[in-house]
Amino acid sequence: MKIQFNLNGHETEIDVHPLKRALDILRDDFHLYGSKEGCGEGECGACTVLMNGKTVTSCLIPAAQLHGKSVFTIEGIQDFAFFNDIQKAYEDAGAVQCGFCTTGFVMSTVGFLGNVEDFDKISDNEIKMALSGNLCRCTGYKKIIDAVRNLVKNKIQIPEKLIKNDLKKNTQISPQSHFIQPENLGQISNLISVNKNEKIKFLAGGTDMMVGEGRFSQDDLIISLDNVTELGRITKNERYLSIGSAVSFSDILANKFVQDNFPILVDAIQTIGSPQIRHRATIGGNLANASPAGDSIPPLMVLEAKILLNNAADDEIRKVNMNDFFIAPGKSILKNGEFIQSIEIPFPQSDNQIHYFRKVGQRKSLTISKTSLALICKLENDRIENIKIACGSVAPTVLRLKRTEKFLIGKKVDNEIIEEAKEILQSEISPIADIRSTAEYRREITANLLEDFFIKLV
Ligand code: FES
Ligand code: FES
Repeated sequence: MKIQFNLNGHETEIDVHPLKRALDILRDDFHLYGSKEGCGEGECGACTVLMNGKTVTSCLIPAAQLHGKSVFTIEGIQDFAFFNDIQKAYEDAGAVQCGFCTTGFVMSTVGFLGNVEDFDKISDNEIKMALSGNLCRCTGYKKIIDAVRNLVKNKIQIPEKLIKNDLKKNTQISPQSHFIQPENLGQISNLISVNKNEKIKFLAGGTDMMVGEGRFSQDDLIISLDNVTELGRITKNERYLSIGSAVSFSDILANKFVQDNFPILVDAIQTIGSPQIRHRATIGGNLANASPAGDSIPPLMVLEAKILLNNAADDEIRKVNMNDFFIAPGKSILKNGEFIQSIEIPFPQSDNQIHYFRKVGQRKSLTISKTSLALICKLENDRIENIKIACGSVAPTVLRLKRTEKFLIGKKVDNEIIEEAKEILQSEISPIADIRSTAEYRREITANLLEDFFIKLV
């Protein structure tokens, strides 16, 4: 498949397999060795590059999704004046030892500095968040954070051409290829009706599908949703917000309406992956994976969101409840050729709802949850008028805890009620032991999260 993209400021064309990783193309085909491979699964950040102005992990980008994009690697930024400032700041702070991670950290630093709106308002926490997708095994993070803090203090400017996403999508449809990138719903419809009998796989940001091998077989017809205009929109009407399935988590986080009206979703999304992952991972992808650990699912469940499924082959759109979508780990009700079109979230019915989201994992960033709890509650005269609770990673699918909710409604919270509610919660979940946690730990900590909410509440 012929891929055209802009690499370090130069128009480039290459003939490669559509699923070849961008990292391998950079290193093998263009001999740009600055982007490194540490983990190959989006965790270490050593392969970080800028794609259309945003940091991404190039080990998770399939070649075909480079088409029409602009990519900058560490080699492409070294002739800019700001590069010396970054180099000096890292040297002065002693922020480099073996150097393996350094190019990734520098690319994250560039992505961060390029998007700063007001240098005087940047906190240490924001710097830490910006670097949270990069791991260093020898320097330790303090010196790296010191280096970036100095760059912020000196208000280092990044040229707009590196950060701006002003390239046309320049979509590609190649009927000969088994990887197709349509640009609107009509094209998907046509593709599916002529390929009804093919095994169809939809690919969004690729942050899960590109990890490891064996997710695709040679015969799969892969339809990339990356460039489909209708799926990349956030819209609203008088009753609900609609988020297209291909909207990235970072675009949802940046949306003012979401920030103001759905803070529980914002809290949950902030715990997903890292900046690089959130720039690519989509809300539709998170649902379609049907993982019990999918972090956007518990908040969407308590927000009583609905999922719109598009079955182009049957010319049918069905709207389903979150509860009815998931069947088992990795399994949903999606049929072959059917994809998630959008997620509808009803507006909050009252202003004074209290929300809570907490995820427990091995660490704060880039971690799969051991358990998570999302909760929305409304009090009336100190009694619980309404409460909705959902938990992740404690059953084959994310669970809505209806019995615990029913018990709590109408109750005035005291220690006795909390203890009883914890017991009911524990009887509703069925955690397993796996590589991340024991079943007992999950059971106990999930109940403790409910207690944590009530302690904060009272
Ligand atoms: Fe580790 Fe890409 S190689 S994130
Ligand atoms: Fe060695 Fe970071 S300096 S891994």
